[in-house]
Amino acid sequence: RKKVTIQTLQNLYKKGEPIAMLTAHDFPSAHVADVSGMDMVLVGDSLGMVALGLDNTTEVVMEEMILHCRSVVRGAKSAFIVGDLPMGSYEISAEQAIESSLRLIKEGRVHGVKIEGGEELASTIKRITQAGVPVVGHVGLTPQRQNALGGFRVQGKTTSSALKLLDDAVAMQEAGAFMLVLEAMPAEVAALITEKLSIPTIGIGAGNGCSGQVLVQVDMTGNFQPGRFIPKFVKPFANVWGEAARGITQYRDEVKSRAFPSEEYTYPIPKEELAGFQK
Ligand code: KIV
Ligand code: NA
Repeated sequence: RKKVTIQTLQNLYKKGEPIAMLTAHDFPSAHVADVSGMDMVLVGDSLGMVALGLDNTTEVVMEEMILHCRSVVRGAKSAFIVGDLPMGSYEISAEQAIESSLRLIKEGRVHGVKIEGGEELASTIKRITQAGVPVVGHVGLTPQRQNALGGFRVQGKTTSSALKLLDDAVAMQEAGAFMLVLEAMPAEVAALITEKLSIPTIGIGAGNGCSGQVLVQVDMTGNFQPGRFIPKFVKPFANVWGEAARGITQYRDEVKSRAFPSEEYTYPIPKEELAGFQK
């Protein structure tokens, strides 16, 4: 497969072909996403939950992002790879944001960065872009701000809040963002924002009117313990946990009953060698 560049993504957008994006958090999750044809792989700070066992994304730090970005880059040879700027790595100043972005590029080896927020980040996005780093903006439900938003809540359900989302999106585009993630908002709001912009939008819980879609890989592959909360927008495309748990349970039972390892999983030794050994 040919390497996906920022130009490839522009061409998909111009053709009206939806851009397929999926998160990955390590080598194998990146590899399977890449060979399964993803245009883009996102090293989201959701790795805090899916790979590090944290309750949310607010605790994720740069060092963790860099380590996971490096392993994802080794696994995804074709996709365009974007890494999240974690909470605390960009808010203090444009200088801090540029430094963090350059670390994700130079140490994490990703191709672009994603930043949560809105209008207030316009000057920061402009500076990161000027440093030669492609920026994806992220508006709507911004999980890093869950404490301020009052939890994981759908955004843009009133005229005024929908207009604010549009203003944020336009401001990020004007600042130089080459793409926007729109998270958890009514489909009509995301579709109208998409129409008004001249850069692609990638929806997650934002309906079918965006320029592409993104999901968290462990969510859409069902790689989590049944009963865990899953947002309404996640379609269960696979049941990885169920298959893994089935196999591991059978392994346990066969270890306990000595059914495993049977002869076919055992190394032979020539009879005369064995006789010598046993003497
Ligand atoms: O962290 C993440 O995985 C994300 C996507 C859900 C967009 O930001
Ligand atoms: Na994220």
